[in-house]
Amino acid sequence: MSKCVISLDLPEDIVVPLRDQYELLMWSGRDAMPEATLQNWLSDAEGLLCALSSPITESVMHAAKQLRVISTISVGVDHIDLNAATRAGISVGHTPGVLVDSTADLALGLMIALTRRIPEADRWMRSGQWSQGWQSDLLLGTDLSDSTVGVVGLGPIGEATVRRLRAFGCRILAWNRSLKEIEGVEIVPLDEVFARSDIVTLHTALTAETTHIASRSRLASMPTGAALINTGRGLLVDERALLEELAAGRLKAGLDVFEVEPLPSDHPFLSLNNVVLLPHVGSATASTRLAMVTRALENLHAGMSGERLPFCANPQVYGLSA
Ligand code: GLV
Repeated sequence: MSKCVISLDLPEDIVVPLRDQYELLMWSGRDAMPEATLQNWLSDAEGLLCALSSPITESVMHAAKQLRVISTISVGVDHIDLNAATRAGISVGHTPGVLVDSTADLALGLMIALTRRIPEADRWMRSGQWSQGWQSDLLLGTDLSDSTVGVVGLGPIGEATVRRLRAFGCRILAWNRSLKEIEGVEIVPLDEVFARSDIVTLHTALTAETTHIASRSRLASMPTGAALINTGRGLLVDERALLEELAAGRLKAGLDVFEVEPLPSDHPFLSLNNVVLLPHVGSATASTRLAMVTRALENLHAGMSGERLPFCANPQVYGLSA
């Protein structure tokens, strides 16, 4: 039987059918699998099923001489050295398409949470402060319909976010790496998205070019009181610069992703009231997670049988262009 490593703890109902097909080694620790253990387990494995918590570096792949397929339960592949995988002839599968709506929903959720101050109001009530009846000026927010929202990246999730924003009646600005026209959207240079928007929402993949796309100077150019929403990757944002803007009370933020995950328990974000924090749950609905696992298993099985992956992140491995 071919050997397959699973670098995260998956529910038994997913794993049991795999045991009939492969010799399985599954990491069941609560913490991310240590790189040395992963290297050791992969030394004679042909397949790897992983997720964002396992960085798959060149040195991990170097030790895995028989590895043919890496299947990640995520659409993002920034935790995997794709070039090294391609050089080593390892195909990398991912899960595009199925988490678009869940992630766009969460981006809108963060926008409304901030503009209508939902977490703040919830904390206020629980602390027993609601001693008066209806008050005309209690916890006033702003209307999404009055807002200009800037969308950075018009891939499937960016476009799904645009569809939702249109329904809310927002004015929509957007930037995309390649020129794209979308009804009801004003396409503008990246700097303008930041300088003109009440809310900026990030929907671009993390690459060398997009690292810190929300840079110190772009954050500084945002209007006072504006909000940054990040459901993409932590490294899209210069977190230190954002922290300074938040601590000064100049900007607000809704963040589902962070430079370091899990967010350290003493991180200064945790003591600020003008940031809504979520633990990387953009795709966390039962049906989306099932669809992601299903897609990841299709990729794994194809790779283990020497077939082309249906959802391949490095088609160059088959001599195709990206
Ligand atoms: C989630 O962040 C993903 O890339 O699937």
